[in-house]
Amino acid sequence: MKLWGGRFTKPTNELVDEYTASIRFDQKLAQFDIQGSLAHVEMLAKCNIISDEDAATISKGLKVVAQKINAGEAELTEDNEDIHMNVEKLLIDEVGPVGGKLHTGRSRNDQVALDMRLYLRDALITLNQLLLNVQQSLYTQAKDNLDTVLPGYTHLQRAQPVLFGHHMMAYVFMFQRDMERLQDSWKRVNQSPLGAGALAGTSFPIDRHFVAEKLNFDGICDNSLDAVSDRDFVVEFLSNASLISVHLSRLCEELVQWSSAEFNFVELDDAFCTGSSMMPQKKNPDVAELVRGKTGRVVGNLIGMLTTLKGLPLAYNKDMQEDKEGMFDTVETLKGALALFAPMIETMDVKKENMYEAVAKDYSNATDLADYLVGKDLPFREAHAVVGQVVLHCINENKYLLDLKLEEFQEFSSLIEGDIYDVLSPKAVVNARNVAGGTARNRVEEQIEKAEKLFEAS
Ligand code: ARG
Repeated sequence: MKLWGGRFTKPTNELVDEYTASIRFDQKLAQFDIQGSLAHVEMLAKCNIISDEDAATISKGLKVVAQKINAGEAELTEDNEDIHMNVEKLLIDEVGPVGGKLHTGRSRNDQVALDMRLYLRDALITLNQLLLNVQQSLYTQAKDNLDTVLPGYTHLQRAQPVLFGHHMMAYVFMFQRDMERLQDSWKRVNQSPLGAGALAGTSFPIDRHFVAEKLNFDGICDNSLDAVSDRDFVVEFLSNASLISVHLSRLCEELVQWSSAEFNFVELDDAFCTGSSMMPQKKNPDVAELVRGKTGRVVGNLIGMLTTLKGLPLAYNKDMQEDKEGMFDTVETLKGALALFAPMIETMDVKKENMYEAVAKDYSNATDLADYLVGKDLPFREAHAVVGQVVLHCINENKYLLDLKLEEFQEFSSLIEGDIYDVLSPKAVVNARNVAGGTARNRVEEQIEKAEKLFEAS
């Protein structure tokens, strides 16, 4: 008979069991479910709702169940629907009918909300560390590339040269905000819903704060209906995870481009690439592509959860069982990507000469010629027009700015003098951007120092 079978006159259709059961995926929550039950049962005894002796029996039994599940020795069945009822059934098998006292003053509705929060807390700690590792790999590449100049792009057209270290640091700060978002979400995740019961609270004189403290929560959910029926903490996580994935994905796109023969700016280590079954010469950036590709699932999980919640009346609805797979999948997907990312970045070979050569063969120092003329008191708009003419001349002549002789320059403006060659060199162009946050070497060094302080604090 089902744990809830009292008011039923016949068994459920087999297809219904299969369709409604969540044990296939919510068994991931087993250790958290038992952790919550241990705190709950201790509280029941403390509040004299059950005897100390019964509580001790139940606790002991729960620990045995935990061991058996961990060792793969416990049979988890669809008959028992979900992890909560499976654990309760295993407990009763272990300690007898007294195990049936565990669920006093509790519902699966507050129980599952609790388990989800405990699971997510655990995931947040791991993800935070993995993000830090990724940041540090980017930071290390930044430090190694404080003299590496490459074209910076807008519209994927060469725009102005930047330091590769500057480019790496851009992602360090993106991931910093991602990490701060995860950390900030902690205070909303870390509230205990236990005691909300099915929806209205409970008639037993329980102590919600005691359970919350036992489980290291910062506090309790203030409203029982809210506690069992919202999953905004899941949505918030999925949203933060989506942003992390989008940031990873953009970097992946750059890695894929940079490793192409067309760019040839980096080479990913063999250990992080794969080959082709047909074309012997191929070395494919599969990891980067797949991290980019999996962004679709992560964003999909966010949209899925939002859509599931949008029409639900208070309080708990079975629809909410759909909160799990998307969250688990997102955590696993992100852990996998982040764990690979740090060593992939760390071992990446940066082809400094190729980057430099690309800068030497473009017009990304044109702004500096205009700025030079502005320094000689020509209004910027006029300087822009003059340099546009110079660039057009160069394109027609198949030359770059630094190929022009001084007399050629002077045909366009008599303000140009012999010092122009120093001004237009790639290094000078980079170091001219000496504004806070800019790409000049000393400004990138400032960013690196800032990052070091952030790492220490996290
Ligand atoms: N398996 C359910 C879920 O994941 C647990 C809560 C079920 N509650 C209920 N009243 N049917 O949401």
